[in-house]
Amino acid sequence: MKVQVLFLAAGIALLSYGFTGSPQNKGASQAERLFARATPDDYMSDAGCAECHDGIAKNFPSSPHAALVSDPSLPLDKKGCQGCHGPGNIHQAEEDAEVISFRKMTPKESAAACLRCHAQTLSENHWKRTEHARADLSCVSCHQIHTDTDPAWETHALKKGKAGDPRTPMFVAKVDPKAMLKADEATLCGQCHPSTIAEFRTSNHHPVPEGRVVCSDCHTPHPTKDAKLTHDSLKGKCVTCHTDKAGPFTFEHDPVAGFTGNGCQECHRPHGANNPKMLNSVTRGLCAQCHTDKLATHYPGRTCWNAGCHVASHGSNTDPRFLKQ
Ligand code: HEC
Ligand code: HEC
Ligand code: HEC
Ligand code: HEC
Ligand code: HEC
Ligand code: HEC
Ligand code: HEC
Ligand code: HEC
Ligand code: HEC
Repeated sequence: MKVQVLFLAAGIALLSYGFTGSPQNKGASQAERLFARATPDDYMSDAGCAECHDGIAKNFPSSPHAALVSDPSLPLDKKGCQGCHGPGNIHQAEEDAEVISFRKMTPKESAAACLRCHAQTLSENHWKRTEHARADLSCVSCHQIHTDTDPAWETHALKKGKAGDPRTPMFVAKVDPKAMLKADEATLCGQCHPSTIAEFRTSNHHPVPEGRVVCSDCHTPHPTKDAKLTHDSLKGKCVTCHTDKAGPFTFEHDPVAGFTGNGCQECHRPHGANNPKMLNSVTRGLCAQCHTDKLATHYPGRTCWNAGCHVASHGSNTDPRFLKQ
């Protein structure tokens, strides 16, 4: 009884949405337009889908989207298989049949269909400005909704990577993928970013190959503010793990504190390098890129920090010249 009432309420809500929503819906996405033209009669039960698509329906209740099929109180347009694929009776209609097919839609339409429900993760405006959206990726370039189907790898990803097969793990120690990703992050991201993987194969690197750090520890795949990583936000990421470099110090070193330059990257390669401590250089040139006046005459040793001089190059609480911690 209660369920029926809820259904009715949802139906009315939907009708009024459809009524007020459709006329000014010109700029709306394909998914929004389809839902806007649906009436409550256009929806069928999930069991109905299973009659023709039994394989895919069987395992769905154990997927992270299970709440969609088990919660009867959800509105029709956010519920079950149809919450993603659109009203079943329109899909089966003889005329004007339509189904939301994430593999066939354009990347933009595909992402919009996910963002109907995931506006909390990021808005369409934020997504639009990411490098990935600009490069024609969609949510399903990285995420696999039906975990029992073959991952739908991007065709351009297939062409790159090891021996052309994106499923070959990049590194032996792989981290179990979370959030329905198609593979562990190094393997997934590495398909399209092989030069980054090469950087992790250098002799001093962040322990991504060892499975102790993942790409998303530093890169936000769904930035909710400015799509570009700002230097502030990058330093913020670095010091969440390297807390001793966060300061504030009594005597700050400008590039570390972020007053000048690109923060930590002025001296470190973020992924890896063949130099110790992932430094950009192990000569005094590292410091002389800014302190040019010290290049010629000032203590002509090999580096400025190894000889026991500027040992506190990240900042000091006792010495303005960083000679002591
Ligand atoms: C009477 C049988 C039948 C029913 C019921 C049915 N479908 Fe389909 N569906 C099909 C057929 C046939 C195709 C076309 C298959 C093809 O192109 O490979 C299809 C295609 C699809 C596709 C597109 C696959 C693609 O990417 O090309 C999706 C998604 C889909 N159905 C979802 C659903 C959902 C969700 C339901 C329940 C609301 C449903 N179907 C109900 C028969 C059915
Ligand atoms: C959260 C969104 C979502 C829900 C809910 C969902 N699907 Fe899908 N479905 C997708 C996506 C995305 C794809 C594209 C392939 C993939 O990612 O696995 C897809 C692909 C399909 C296909 C085509 C498979 C192929 O091999 O091309 C069918 C059929 C289908 N879904 C049926 C269903 C049925 C039946 C249900 C309910 C049990 C359902 N879907 C629930 C997102 C969803
Ligand atoms: C009808 C609404 C709806 C649509 C459409 C939808 N989702 Fe979801 N999604 C949900 C809900 C509800 C959850 C569970 C949220 C929670 O547990 O907090 C979820 C969870 C997720 C998660 C997190 C899973 C985890 O392991 O934590 C991912 C990733 C995700 N969705 C991706 C997608 C993608 C990609 C699409 C488009 C193909 C999509 N969703 C479409 C409602 C939706
Ligand atoms: C470049 C790969 C990539 C793309 C494209 C991508 N994601 Fe993700 N997504 C990830 C990774 C990696 C994680 C896990 C790390 C995390 O939680 O930040 C994740 C986590 C999630 C989660 C669960 C955690 C959370 O942040 O709420 C949701 C929901 C989600 N993604 C939805 C989406 C949607 C919707 C889109 C499309 C607009 C999308 N993703 C596009 C890589 C991607
Ligand atoms: C299907 C291919 C593909 C996948 C998978 C992918 N990317 Fe990308 N990524 C691209 C493309 C294309 C660009 C656009 C710039 C370029 O060509 O490098 C890009 C851009 C980026 C940028 C910005 C580069 C810049 O110059 O500012 C970062 C950072 C990035 N990706 C990280 C990731 C991470 C982390 C993952 C995994 C969670 C991932 N990517 C997964 C294709 C991909
Ligand atoms: C320890 C933090 C960290 C980890 C882990 C990390 N990155 Fe980065 N990545 C960075 C920083 C910092 C930059 C430089 C951003 C800039 O210059 O604006 C960067 C830049 C990039 C770029 C842009 C091209 C370039 O090299 O400048 C890509 C693509 C990229 N990373 C992909 C990845 C992938 C894929 C992974 C996982 C295999 C990963 N990153 C892991 C911190 C990290
Ligand atoms: C998720 C945590 C995490 C983040 C974020 C992170 N790191 Fe690291 N970093 C590590 C771990 C773990 C190691 C390896 C330490 C070890 O093996 O003892 C490491 C090693 C290093 C080293 C080499 C240390 C040595 O003794 O050889 C440097 C330099 C470094 N990180 C700088 C950075 C910079 C710069 C950033 C931001 C772009 C950053 N880290 C972000 C966890 C992190
Ligand atoms: C002005 C250059 C410079 C900048 C900027 C810089 N570092 Fe360093 N960093 C160094 C030098 C030089 C060493 C090597 C010190 C040594 O071998 O004793 C080092 C070593 C490290 C180490 C490994 C040894 C240790 O002290 O733990 C970590 C981790 C590290 N830096 C993190 C960071 C982080 C995080 C940032 C940004 C907040 C940063 N660095 C910015 C010059 C710099
Ligand atoms: C990206 C530019 C940059 C790099 C690289 C850099 N510094 Fe600095 N450093 C500064 C700035 C800016 C100041 C403060 C203004 C000033 O006094 O020149 C400063 C101040 C100092 C001071 C304080 C004494 C003084 O002159 O005020 C010392 C000592 C110092 N740096 C040592 C180093 C060492 C050692 C390295 C290499 C590990 C290094 N710096 C790399 C920009 C840099």
